[in-house]
Amino acid sequence: RTAEFKTLLLKEFHRVLMSDSKVFTSGLNSQNPYDVHYERGQWKERTKKDILCALGGVSVQTVTAEDEPFKMLNYNIPNDPLQRHRTFNTCAVVTSAGSLLGSNLGDFIDSHDMVLRFNNAPTENFTEDVGSKTTFRVLNSQVVTKPEYNFLDNPLFNGVSILIWDPANYSSTLDEWYHHPDFPLFPVYKRLLETRPQADVHLLYPNVLWGLWTVLQDSSPYRLRRNPPSSGFTGVWFALHRCNRVRVFEYVPSARATRRCHYHAPRTDTACTLGAWHPLAQEKALTERIRENSDIDVFQRGFLDLPGLSNINC
Ligand code: C5P
Repeated sequence: RTAEFKTLLLKEFHRVLMSDSKVFTSGLNSQNPYDVHYERGQWKERTKKDILCALGGVSVQTVTAEDEPFKMLNYNIPNDPLQRHRTFNTCAVVTSAGSLLGSNLGDFIDSHDMVLRFNNAPTENFTEDVGSKTTFRVLNSQVVTKPEYNFLDNPLFNGVSILIWDPANYSSTLDEWYHHPDFPLFPVYKRLLETRPQADVHLLYPNVLWGLWTVLQDSSPYRLRRNPPSSGFTGVWFALHRCNRVRVFEYVPSARATRRCHYHAPRTDTACTLGAWHPLAQEKALTERIRENSDIDVFQRGFLDLPGLSNINC
């Protein structure tokens, strides 16, 4: 059953990637909202080590108090972003996938030294399946700016380290991004720095997103959507930089997968798992390629086990 599910799933990734790519080459996918420039030379299959080294080549960079225009505008961004001087032995990256429901993975997740979650995914009422510990959150800029998430006052976003991402155009400077973010996150960030100056909350350099997109595109024979990677992939990459071992929960879906999008809400939509906007199928295909654990772990228990980048000699 595991082998059958695995075959079906990998075929499904392939099918999504091929159909996106066909749209691209037929010219219908001419949209390039972020003005991405990508020229590929001769394509060649990458090894696990190649992929890990490429991910290691994209460093963790966040906006600092010295970066313009933030300096001039008195953004008092704290030093030592995202617990920079800590490395963790084991880390759990917990996606928000519906297939976490009924997984009973909570105790295993909590046994990790660091636990990273996404956006507004709760633990309350779901601890049996997703655990209760949170060290980091990776947030998209919609969560920061839309009133329903109540970013500044919601206890979900207090007392944890937070990495926020928002895309800029492929070649934009920080100044251009500041004037044209996807969602208006900067005034909210400024307010947060004023009201909670010690909060470990940081903005990802937008060119990091395109660095990660390039790793995805370089590792695929297909042409990808020219949109930034999901919060999930950004979280996996961040954890690979900071941890000796990274376990990623229900990113590559297990046999528990249904059409349900999130474990914490009833909405159904298969695009959440396979992608409609982010190059999600390639993110998952690539992450699956670098795992070191068994098919049973991945497709029945529901997690990938990845080596941290400090273990790789590039
Ligand atoms: O939907 P949201 O972005 O908040 O979910 C957090 C991350 O979890 C996503 O960016 C995606 O990488 C991952 N996810 C998934 N499958 C789902 C839902 C979310 O892989 N069904």
